[in-house]
Amino acid sequence: MSVASRRLTPSRRGQEMPHSAIDRLVPSAEAAAARGVRIHYLNIGQPDLATPPPILGAITGFEGPTIAYAPSRGHPDTLRAWAAYYEQACGAVVPPEHLLVTTGGGEAIVFAMMAVADPGDEILVFDPSYTSYCGFAAMANVALRSIMLDPADDYALPSTAAIEAALTPRTRAVLLCNPNNPTGAVYGERELRLLLDVAERHGLYLLVDEVYRELVFDGLPQTTVLSIAGAMNRTILVDSVSKRFNACGARIGCLTSANEEVMGAALRFAQARLAVPTVEQLATAALLRDPLSYTSTLAVEYARRRDAALAALRALSGVTYSRPHGAFYIILGLPVADAEDFARWMLEEFSLDGETTMVAPLEGFYVTPGHGANEARLAFVLDDERLARAVRILGAGLERYNARPETRNAS
Ligand SMILES: Cc1ncc(COP(=O)(O)O)c(C=O)c1O
Repeated sequence: MSVASRRLTPSRRGQEMPHSAIDRLVPSAEAAAARGVRIHYLNIGQPDLATPPPILGAITGFEGPTIAYAPSRGHPDTLRAWAAYYEQACGAVVPPEHLLVTTGGGEAIVFAMMAVADPGDEILVFDPSYTSYCGFAAMANVALRSIMLDPADDYALPSTAAIEAALTPRTRAVLLCNPNNPTGAVYGERELRLLLDVAERHGLYLLVDEVYRELVFDGLPQTTVLSIAGAMNRTILVDSVSKRFNACGARIGCLTSANEEVMGAALRFAQARLAVPTVEQLATAALLRDPLSYTSTLAVEYARRRDAALAALRALSGVTYSRPHGAFYIILGLPVADAEDFARWMLEEFSLDGETTMVAPLEGFYVTPGHGANEARLAFVLDDERLARAVRILGAGLERYNARPETRNAS
């Protein structure tokens, strides 16, 4: 066969890259919105709160003359601002050379995975997990292995022995999201020390994703891995302004480690992409230098939203739900066989007084196949009243969906 007639096929990596469990239903949502349906977006962690004025002011007030590249590691003002943030928010002194500004927390996750694992190596995660870990691992050709956590046990981490039993000769790191998306679990010093001990005994890195750091409820302590002496030599911390400053679109994150070799690798990855957007770096620095003025009320706000969502869920028959202690997600067990089909139907075929509700099917949040078929994730990112309304609409949708002849015949 001549080269010219060879069929063009994308790479295996490209073909096997999973669809985002969060974005998969977006075309159906766009079509519903185009039909004039008002959608309550409980599918994605995009809060409805306003971005704080210092960030908006710095963006609109940017004075040229040129939007120049920032240094690959990050703008010096932004690096200093992250250090100031860690001192105020976590009581931790982090030297600027242990920090790297990234394009959102997402880029920090990819850099961390690529810095610690080669193609074919494994990273251990806990199921259910933030769905994009699967996509990032696929991009890095890293395999995720998972340990299932038990909702009945509030998604507690397993014993040391169970974690050790899941390690293989290819395991390079353990990845923990704390507070957790999607489970809402909040892990304390005991769990972090347990993972650090395992990591130390088996020569592993620990990746900790703390993008929801401030969102801890029920009087639980906020525990950052930065507070554990010596931890940062084998730990890579992933962070972001997206959730805590309502600045998801600014795309500013941070990667932190005291491990020089890891930071060297991360910096070389960063050099290839040149820089993170300069204006947003400078704009978010304004708030990173004085974070508590904004973040000190966040947990109260989201605990109220959680309670409003839970109160509304209590009225739905046949729906089970988790009670999160942190972050802003609730896992729903729905009385349907296929939560993705139901979520799509809500967008394509259902509306109540011109409104519908969008949730994220949970199957794509499990690394281990065969879980989550009847589950969905609800993000409590809207105000209390709208959340209650969105949940009522979800309940009406469930009733109508399950009353359809095709659903009744299937069950
Ligand atoms: C657990 C977790 N980590 C990282 C991210 C990435 O956030 P961003 O890239 O917006 O900073 C998200 C976004 O939802 C998340 O939920």
